[in-house]
Amino acid sequence: MSCEALFDHSLLDHLDWSKHRAHYRDDISPSNLPPGYKMRPLQSDDFNRGYCDLLSHLTKVGDVTPELYLQQFNQMKESKLHYIVVIHDQESDKVVGSATLVVEHKFIHTAANRGRIEDVIVHPDHQGRQFGKVLLDLLILLAESTNCYKLSLDCNEKARPFYEKLNLENVEDHRFMCIKFFD
Ligand SMILES: CC(C)(COP(=O)(O)OP(=O)(O)OC[C@H]1O[C@@H](n2cnc3c(N)ncnc32)[C@H](O)[C@@H]1OP(=O)(O)O)[C@@H](O)C(=O)NCCC(=O)NCCS
Repeated sequence: MSCEALFDHSLLDHLDWSKHRAHYRDDISPSNLPPGYKMRPLQSDDFNRGYCDLLSHLTKVGDVTPELYLQQFNQMKESKLHYIVVIHDQESDKVVGSATLVVEHKFIHTAANRGRIEDVIVHPDHQGRQFGKVLLDLLILLAESTNCYKLSLDCNEKARPFYEKLNLENVEDHRFMCIKFFD
């Protein structure tokens, strides 16, 4: 069976990487990962690369079989509203980081979109290597390029300093973080 990407990879190639928000060290950036690591859209065969195991470090995943994974993957792909990016460790052939952008179409703000970030996770063995910042930076650029007027996420208190590294602001209450691209 052929392997499919959740969304067109060329969307990533056309982003203006110079507009990234986080500060990076050791020459790492969204356009320059360490050798052997690739950032790309989620693929239909990533179940075999431990995608659900990765998510289990974030929350309860439950009994997701390869068939259920594929069914959900196909629904997300058809909807064209889900952008899941992963970091692929090519040496171990495992997916070691992931973050999701969900785009919601609106009539307001001149029929713009609203973006939500979900399920940000870096495998514990790979945390602290700037992958979290890279994933978030990419989704922020992607949200702006898909006509989102606003991008938001729910986060726990512990993760708040991480999102502040990307200049997301705490608004309305202590859980809701937001970037506004335009009014
Ligand atoms: C949060 C998480 C995605 C960060 O990924 P990471 O690859 O370890 O982080 P990075 O290496 O990109 O660096 C993050 C930066 O934020 C800082 N930071 C602050 N609070 C942090 C926190 N709670 N967790 C991780 N980094 C934090 C780091 O010190 C680092 O600062 P620096 O750039 O000045 O060095 C990762 O720790 C993780 O998967 N945690 C468990 C799941 C989770 O909490 N997800 C968010 C749900 S709301």
